[in-house]
Amino acid sequence: MAFNKIWYTLALGLLLPFSYAHTDFFTSIGHMTDLINTEKDLVVSLKDYIKAEESKLEQIKKWAEKLDQLTDTATKDPEGFLGHPVNAFKLMKRLNTEWGELESLVLKDMSDGFISNMTIQRQFFPNDEDQTGAAKALLRLQDTYNLDTDTLSRGNLPGVKHKSFLTAEDCFELGKIAYTEADYYHTELWMEQALKQLDEGEVSSADKVYILDYLSYAVYQQGDLSKAMMLTRRLLELDPEHQRANGNMKYFEYIMAKEKDANKSSTDSEDQLEKETEVKKKDYLPERRKYEMLCRGEGLKMTPRRQKRLFCRYYDGNRNPRYILGPVKQEDEWDKPRIVRFLDIISDEEIETVKELAKPRLSRATVHDPETGKLTTAHYRVSKSAWLSGYESPVVSRINTRIQDLTGLDVSTAEELQVANYGVGGQYEPHFDFARKDEPDAFKELGTGNRIATWLFYMSDVSAGGATVFPEVGASVWPKKGTAVFWYNLFPSGEGDYSTRHAACPVLVGNKWVSNKWLHERGQEFRRPCTLSELE
Ligand code: OGA
Ligand code: FE2
Repeated sequence: MAFNKIWYTLALGLLLPFSYAHTDFFTSIGHMTDLINTEKDLVVSLKDYIKAEESKLEQIKKWAEKLDQLTDTATKDPEGFLGHPVNAFKLMKRLNTEWGELESLVLKDMSDGFISNMTIQRQFFPNDEDQTGAAKALLRLQDTYNLDTDTLSRGNLPGVKHKSFLTAEDCFELGKIAYTEADYYHTELWMEQALKQLDEGEVSSADKVYILDYLSYAVYQQGDLSKAMMLTRRLLELDPEHQRANGNMKYFEYIMAKEKDANKSSTDSEDQLEKETEVKKKDYLPERRKYEMLCRGEGLKMTPRRQKRLFCRYYDGNRNPRYILGPVKQEDEWDKPRIVRFLDIISDEEIETVKELAKPRLSRATVHDPETGKLTTAHYRVSKSAWLSGYESPVVSRINTRIQDLTGLDVSTAEELQVANYGVGGQYEPHFDFARKDEPDAFKELGTGNRIATWLFYMSDVSAGGATVFPEVGASVWPKKGTAVFWYNLFPSGEGDYSTRHAACPVLVGNKWVSNKWLHERGQEFRRPCTLSELE
């Protein structure tokens, strides 16, 4: 906890002064709701400006019409007109003062209020990094949840309340962001989508020539030469003088001819070999694929036989006086590693209190950089989090006691309660909660040993996505508000249990609140005694 305190003091002391200039908006929904309100205020201010500008124009119009009539009459018979002394006086007055007043009115700047509002608010606006972060989140969701580009662009997602779609220009923008990341796979998908929407007749300022330029390059980078040529040909039909496209076309033709020659001399057996390695590649599932499948609710690995041995029960915390009369509902989620879920274990009021305490302190979650040993942000952990101490609120203290009662573990050596909020696309890729043997210093500051167990409260439902998955064993645990899951990270011997590797899947729709308690080894010596064999 000393460590948390240090981090917390650092966070308060160093980060808050600039926290508004750089809040990584895209990492959580909490700060984004502030932006919605800011935008609403700006719209009101903009409408006031429009009204002021309209009323100014109205006055000018009236003046112009009046003068139009007057000058018409006057020019028809100037001498007769000026024969009337009142007319002569009025002409002097108009030219000497009234036109001057009109000039001032025309020059009057009505935009003051709006512009100063804008200047103030702009300091808190998201920056390029936020925009790229939000775009990358979309691309990540597309991969994880196997969403086809058209579905995503038309906004046809499960469980959405407010349908929203992407314009051809938006698609082009996403494609460009993928391109700057040298991610040609997504560049192709999104440039193609932009093109498709334009071909379907969408009115847009997006330019087909630009799109085809990016698209053909992305396709070429991925090795599809004939498609790259076909696209370049299309570009040249629209803009025959396009220099780069003309150059590329010549280059493609040259490569094509060279490949044809080479193909003639290649043998069948080589083709066979290539096919075989391809099959092998498909059979082997890297962790990333397992993780993504579990996130989609596929690839669960639990035989019916094992499933039959999962039970639910009323649990009294091993005859804990606080729970004998009112035991809690407990369900087995998984057998090995054993993961249990507690139901109705945190009330809506408690959740609200915890969220309110955490909100002002949420900052981008960090990870240990194994090279420098320092805390840094990482693309594989995208969320905002805050630490809450039991001293600061009876609710937090009560929650800590509850964890101690129901796990039978001493919470005085645990880390403080961590509250995390994942926005759309927020995730935490596969990791261990415990420190491995090659990082003995990870929890040195705490002085309470390794993270023996994890307690994780789900403080919200998630409309789509956001599961906690265990790729090693093929388990998915779905968030359900008011429940909590618990598992041991270490065997009783103190050895790390590698089957507990887990991840928080990206949120697809909605947002996800969790809070967790990492319990440590010290203090558990008699509560969970060591065994003689390592992996028991
Ligand atoms: C963590 C974690 C899982 C989740 O914060 O270490 O694994 O579902 N969270 O949020
Ligand atoms: Fe974790």
